[in-house]
Amino acid sequence: MATTELPTGPTVEERIEELRRRKAALLDERRKEAVRRQHEKGKLTARERLDLLLDRGSFVETDPFVVHRSHDFGMERNRPPGDGVVTGYGTIDGRRVFVASQDFSVFGGSLGEAHAQKICKVQDLALGTGAPFIQINDSGGARIQEGAASLAGYGYIFERNVRASGVIPQISVIMGPCAGGAVYSPAITDFTFMVRETSHMFITGPEVIKAVTGEEVSFEELGGAMTHASRSGVASFVAQDEEECLAMVRHLLSYLPSNNLEDPPAYAVVDDPERRDEGLTHLVPNSPREPYDMHEVIRRVVDDGDFFEVFPFWAMNIVTGFARLDGRTVGVVANQPKVLAGTLDIDSSEKASRFVRFCDAFNIPLLTFVDVPGFLPGKEQEFGGIIRHGAKLLYAFAEATVPRMTVITRKAYGGAYLVMNSKHLRADVSFAWPTAEIAVMGPEGAVNVVFRKEIEKAEDPARRREELIAEYQRRFANPYVAAERGFVDDVIEPAETRPRLIRALRMLATKREAVPARKHGNIPL
Ligand code: HXC
Repeated sequence: MATTELPTGPTVEERIEELRRRKAALLDERRKEAVRRQHEKGKLTARERLDLLLDRGSFVETDPFVVHRSHDFGMERNRPPGDGVVTGYGTIDGRRVFVASQDFSVFGGSLGEAHAQKICKVQDLALGTGAPFIQINDSGGARIQEGAASLAGYGYIFERNVRASGVIPQISVIMGPCAGGAVYSPAITDFTFMVRETSHMFITGPEVIKAVTGEEVSFEELGGAMTHASRSGVASFVAQDEEECLAMVRHLLSYLPSNNLEDPPAYAVVDDPERRDEGLTHLVPNSPREPYDMHEVIRRVVDDGDFFEVFPFWAMNIVTGFARLDGRTVGVVANQPKVLAGTLDIDSSEKASRFVRFCDAFNIPLLTFVDVPGFLPGKEQEFGGIIRHGAKLLYAFAEATVPRMTVITRKAYGGAYLVMNSKHLRADVSFAWPTAEIAVMGPEGAVNVVFRKEIEKAEDPARRREELIAEYQRRFANPYVAAERGFVDDVIEPAETRPRLIRALRMLATKREAVPARKHGNIPL
């Protein structure tokens, strides 16, 4: 009888191998699906973002094999290498930076113990080697399955953010959700970037708000990029999409030193340092009530008209940003007569003081343009604490030891004049244009206070009032009374502002200022 040979069954090793292949294919499918979902939302993946942010081929990854150690909720069956954050270092324009980019496709980018340890490791390297730290946030927050260990992870990150503050530039780039306590790391860092429509930041989300207060609010209105760029003052920069955002981060770094012991990078100058700008001569309108755009003054003075504005949509009555003079970075702070007549209020004081302190910490000279009629009057401002908020700006300028230059273009009235980097707060160089008025207050207000009785008694009160205003203007509404006392160093033609500032900046290049020994001051926060 013929025998038929039975086929041999697979060995146990073959079965294991087969299952491994199927699992890998499954994971690959899930990975592709996660990437597809990310792209569908208009977002890039964690690695794509680093590819665009860093110089080509410069990225060196740290800890790619790190996995979480959790055994709860079936987590032991899913240990993706890297644990949801890509960390490492690379270069931007040839200069070293450290990075952490959260991967939303792994546990929603949520932060567990191992994930946090990876971030802390690059934070420590950044601080230890004096290089900027950039974090790209795209995360559901604390990893729920890891409980207290993930909360602890945030604590370790926050503490490092604080330790590094003022030592290395720290930049947050929000490219997805950033919710709950997780928002506090970006809040501590120096600059926060957001992307329109795809990034959101809030302490409590719309659903919790509805349950607790009954208020209905959308994700975008509550925590979208424009909300934080124009209302809350949380987002320093806002971009149309992720590509633009990453290009802006690269651009920002071009103005900054790598740490507080270095000077910002200097660039070869194309724009003539001796260039006069006749367009400045008639830029300030004849009428003191008529506004003009301070951006135009700034652009006409700085190298190549390049001005990189910080917080362009928030507290627009003050303008802050980076530019270059003679190829060197300067931090510009300027009143904006076009918005609230350039008055100082709570938000503008806060915006400008944080900017001034950043510049001072990182050896960036300050250039101030002044056209300020005073502090914004009103109950809202007083009840909101304009006294202590306004004091922040005064404090910030007064404690700054970097070279400080001031140009008074028009009004410099009262306390606001003092606050805006005046000579009395130890500004190094102060120029006034012939249109400058340095006085306790504007002519109308002053005449009403000082000559009220005389005006009332006059035969023709209206005429007498006009006469007194004209007299006051002749005597006080000009820069010469202050110049006589040396409160401004010189009255200059507007057209020669650029060359005069550049000569002053060169003169101040070796400025050294000692400060009294103390643990730290007590700025009115
Ligand atoms: C663990 C999380 C997670 C979290 C999301 N995921 N958040 N896993 N811990 N905190 C997982 C989801 O289970 C899902 O896994 C995957 O990530 C994608 O999430 P989806 O919900 O499908 O995505 P989407 O619809 O885009 O919504 C994103 C989201 C939402 C808005 C972020 O996931 C969400 O509301 N998550 C919870 C947010 C939150 O409350 N976090 C805690 C905040 S408090 P699968 O496997 O299904 O793909 C906090 C405290 C910090 O962070 C304290 C510091 C002091």
